[in-house]
Amino acid sequence: MSAPERRRPGGFTRRGVLAMTSLAGVAAAGAVGGDAAASALGGERAREIGRRRVPFDGPHQAGVLAPPAAHGWFAAFDLRPGADRAQVATLLRRWTGEARRLTAGEPVPGDDAMATGYGASSLTITVGFGASLLRRLGAPVPGELQPIPPFPHDDLDEGRGDGDLGVLFTAGDAIVVAHALRTLTRSARGTASVRWQMTGFNPADGVTAERGSTSRNLMGQLDGTGNPRPGDPGFDAHVLVGPGGDPAWMRGGSYLVFRRIRMLLDTWDTLPRERQEQVIGRRKDTGAPLSGGTEFTPLDLDRQNPDGGLAIGPGAHVRQASPASNSGATILRKGYSYFDGYRADGAPDAGLLFMAFQRDPRDGFTRIQQRLALADELSRFLSHESSALFAVPPGAGPHGYLGQGLLDGL
Ligand code: HEM
Repeated sequence: MSAPERRRPGGFTRRGVLAMTSLAGVAAAGAVGGDAAASALGGERAREIGRRRVPFDGPHQAGVLAPPAAHGWFAAFDLRPGADRAQVATLLRRWTGEARRLTAGEPVPGDDAMATGYGASSLTITVGFGASLLRRLGAPVPGELQPIPPFPHDDLDEGRGDGDLGVLFTAGDAIVVAHALRTLTRSARGTASVRWQMTGFNPADGVTAERGSTSRNLMGQLDGTGNPRPGDPGFDAHVLVGPGGDPAWMRGGSYLVFRRIRMLLDTWDTLPRERQEQVIGRRKDTGAPLSGGTEFTPLDLDRQNPDGGLAIGPGAHVRQASPASNSGATILRKGYSYFDGYRADGAPDAGLLFMAFQRDPRDGFTRIQQRLALADELSRFLSHESSALFAVPPGAGPHGYLGQGLLDGL
């Protein structure tokens, strides 16, 4: 696609309509029927997904504002001992060039040809810097990158947390993502290597009735409804570092909190549907708030049931997470489900790769999570297993490279 599409409450995106129109055209053309028509439709849809592009260059890195894709993989890298400023600059220059080509659906020099013929498939590649990278480079660490404090019931695995560099890859196809990860990993050789990597997914395009529908997570809830949207009042101030922001190299950037949150699905499954809905504060089928309306009706936190109880209960996740309960704290959530098989105790190793972009994690994720860890009924069904924090610098201009503002200033 030519520009990141905003999801529209209850509406079709323009491109979604165009895509559907062209599919209808394929079905109507000629006397194809039954399986042949279905396979023509499938082929056309596949090509259309492959052709979509999210522009790499721009004021913000594309992965910050792009809508959720079917596949989201995250890799954290650590610098090799002794890697210096010049090597980091070379690496970032190389990664930028490769990302620019791959997101345009073009091979990189010396390409391994893993994804030949697959197109860009909406690929985004978004690079972030950990506090440890800045320390290694001798750069001041902004307050926003202060370590996220521990929360009650955290069960963090440090080996799968933090890192000098963090890269989020998203696309409509898993091979395209795998190819991009392999390409960047290979070109980092000698300078940086993978510290940890995780693989997530969302519903594929075409699975839901309309493109841009809110994704379901592995608890079966519509997840993302209450997200702020680009263009909303206050969106930029909450999510992006403004033109006067400090340090200057972060202007137009954002801070990314990553958490691997395992869902205790076997325990969750024992709750009747009605109770599950109360724990969240929204209906499971439509995503509508329990205070009434449809999916995108604003929460009414004061609404009472006929029995006098609050429609959205005191411990409901949406109440405890909402800006109204957190002095206005607002984050842009990007969730990807993961399902990594079964653990030795028989429980599914499954949950959410939770990602949140914000201007300052101290006023965003940390403030909200401090409340959730204590007061959110959902927290009984979750285990936070890893945590990372990255400064995501602005997008690169057509001739620049990601992080150039930081490196040039050293
Ligand atoms: C696996 C863990 C989690 C699950 C399954 C989950 C699920 C949900 C669901 C189903 C909703 C309602 C639909 C929506 O607005 O997206 C929601 C809303 C929300 N969640 Fe979570 N969530 C999780 C973790 C978190 C964490 C760790 C935070 C932040 C620290 C958070 C912050 C929010 C916010 C800000 C909202 C919107 C509230 C509003 O409507 O104002 N969630 N979540």
